[in-house]
Amino acid sequence: MIIQTINLTKRYGKLTALNNLNLQIQDGECFGYIGPNGAGKTTTIKILATLLQPTWGEARVCNHVVGYESRKIRPLIGYVPDFFGAYEDMVVQEYLEFFASAYNISGDARTQVVGDVLDLTDLSHKRDAMVDSLSRGMKQRLSVARVLLHDPKVLLLDEPASGLDPRARIEMRELLKELRNMGKTIIISSHILHELAELCTTIGIIEHGELLYHGQIDDIVRRARLATRVHVKVVEQKDLAALLLQRTKGVTKVEENNGAIVLELDDQTHDFSYIAATLVQNNFKIREIKEEEVNLETAFMRLTKGLVQ
Ligand SMILES: Nc1ncnc2c1ncn2[C@@H]1O[C@H](COP(=O)(O)OP(=O)(O)OP(=O)(O)O)[C@@H](O)[C@H]1O
Ligand SMILES: [Mg+2]
Repeated sequence: MIIQTINLTKRYGKLTALNNLNLQIQDGECFGYIGPNGAGKTTTIKILATLLQPTWGEARVCNHVVGYESRKIRPLIGYVPDFFGAYEDMVVQEYLEFFASAYNISGDARTQVVGDVLDLTDLSHKRDAMVDSLSRGMKQRLSVARVLLHDPKVLLLDEPASGLDPRARIEMRELLKELRNMGKTIIISSHILHELAELCTTIGIIEHGELLYHGQIDDIVRRARLATRVHVKVVEQKDLAALLLQRTKGVTKVEENNGAIVLELDDQTHDFSYIAATLVQNNFKIREIKEEEVNLETAFMRLTKGLVQ
């Protein structure tokens, strides 16, 4: 277990920002931390980054306890805050060299690592640009580049995609995927669930400082009891195919949408091969058959509502 919190509680005066939070994140996991504004995401991430102390309970990073062994934790983590700090009066390369020196990386090793992180974050063409001339998306990538210099095991990213346009969001997601595939453990917060769905292996949903859900991303959909929806397109005789499917066991609803037959299935296994088999056995030619992308936003709303009540 690379990250563990045990009854982690944080109070700001009378306000309880985190209430007995128990998180477990395994090595190599990409953990999406989701919750509305004020839920306690930043507070949790700052504690893991050793910048805040718990009021009660414990947070451990690589088995070191925050507050007692923070010095051992810092080299292991890379923390990207939700805002871009100062130091903007420098060019990109200087900026990264400055931080590399702060990590005691010098000489050829420094040149090498700065070049590497610029490549990885796709900023090599901006190495001589002033930091404050970068677009917001580039600044966010530069923030990620900065925390990669010391090759940390764990990345703590607080809403790295906020304020980015759709293209920059995709670029950020691709970058994070690359880092995930390099084996980094990633904790990333967001209040937008579907943005994390593709990237994350597990998610935690937090509201008012309490963890409402913690588990595999697929399970959230199951727990929200969303039916499997399948889109079918046949080459001809669509109406007949729809009639056939209506009578097929396991199909609970048949609709039409954009020239496709849309089916709702009563199981949660996502195995819809019997639909294809039924069509083929009855000599229908299938043009396309695919599962509808699950609306995670809906699942999220149902789940949090259900659990809060
Ligand atoms: N320094 C502070 N002093 C007092 N209260 C604070 C402080 N920092 C955070 N809080 C309160 O703690 C709660 C959790 O805040 P936090 O910033 O952790 O939420 P968040 O989930 O990151 O929200 P957002 O999505 O808006 O970033 C909020 O009610 C907030 O007002
Ligand atoms: Mg926050």
